[in-house]
Amino acid sequence: MKPSDRSEIAPFYVMEVMRAAETREAAGAEVLHLEVGQPSTPAPAGARRAVAAALETDTLGYTGAAGLPQLRQAIADWYRRRHGIDVATERIVVTTGASGSCVLGFLALFDVGDRVAVLEPGYPCYRNDLLALGVDVVTATVGHETRFRPTVEQLDELGPIDGMIVASPSNPTGTVLPDDDLSAIVAWADRNDVRLVVDEIYHGITYGDPIPTALGHSERVTVINSFSKYFSMTGWRVGWVVAPPPIAAAIERLAQSLTIAPPTISQVAAIAAFDCVEELEANVARYRRNRDIVLAGLEAAGLDRMAPADGAFYAWVDVSELGLDSQELCRLWLDHLGVAATPGIDFDTRHGGDFVRFSYAGSADELSEAMSRLGQWVAAPG
Ligand SMILES: Cc1ncc(COP(=O)(O)O)c(C=O)c1O
Repeated sequence: MKPSDRSEIAPFYVMEVMRAAETREAAGAEVLHLEVGQPSTPAPAGARRAVAAALETDTLGYTGAAGLPQLRQAIADWYRRRHGIDVATERIVVTTGASGSCVLGFLALFDVGDRVAVLEPGYPCYRNDLLALGVDVVTATVGHETRFRPTVEQLDELGPIDGMIVASPSNPTGTVLPDDDLSAIVAWADRNDVRLVVDEIYHGITYGDPIPTALGHSERVTVINSFSKYFSMTGWRVGWVVAPPPIAAAIERLAQSLTIAPPTISQVAAIAAFDCVEELEANVARYRRNRDIVLAGLEAAGLDRMAPADGAFYAWVDVSELGLDSQELCRLWLDHLGVAATPGIDFDTRHGGDFVRFSYAGSADELSEAMSRLGQWVAAPG
């Protein structure tokens, strides 16, 4: 039976790398993992303790579609503590990760045939979700000239659009939008009646000054976030969205039918995770040390044309000088060096063949070894 036309979206090529890495490991060979976009740490200890207690005492049935009131309040408190802003709990909906926020948020914000802009390089699910929902995707390319940030002049040239998705920090580039850029983009969206979605999933994982939330600039923006990255809880599948009240109400209504509610046990963990800042900041300190290893290693290997890496845990590196398509390069590196990295094609449909994404969420020892092997390979490819 033929699947629906709308399901004909691009696959995730990184899954192929992961499968090849697994096959290699199953055959007893070593793999240094720089392809995985997730923390190598478990949920913080306080979250795991809260879960153990809840398993004994709670029924853990469905929650409301917008999530546990205590969690919505804890998220509002987080914005007050971190950013000094008040976010009404009615604007917060708990979701099954930022992925759930994207599906529900895009459904609530956009209609079939709307034109919505995404950045390239950027996280591929925005494009895939929008296409599956019947939305026309408009691509805005960002590059070295602007430190991989979109400019208002560039947005003006996109023609009439109904919406736009940006991320700060970005996956795969690590680009952070400084407050001036963020406020200019938010103001541009407000001025042009463009529904703006800002993905702040890598908030908390930055290496310069603390970064602003788009929520500080406008009440018309929709922000998505998650417990997956800073809170180190990818597999718990819990995140949130903050939206203007009518959009939040629509998201809640959609969630009632599409998911009923996010997983209750994960919401219990999420409430407790907010009290684990010391452990979470230690994770960020480790990413910072890993980043130093990877940036120094890439530079030593002559692979120094890369995006700024100001946040998240990725280095987005231009490998075009090596003369091979990045998919071919990643295959070679896995086969010959045991180094798994992600070819750029997932993140940039046009120029992805020139780029590789390295994740530095893993262990320092693995990263040092991977950098040394890459350095030797670049010096004498084979
Ligand atoms: C930029 C970005 N947004 C959203 C997601 C989805 O995250 P999750 O559904 O685990 O919260 C990811 C996952 O890697 C991501 O990198």
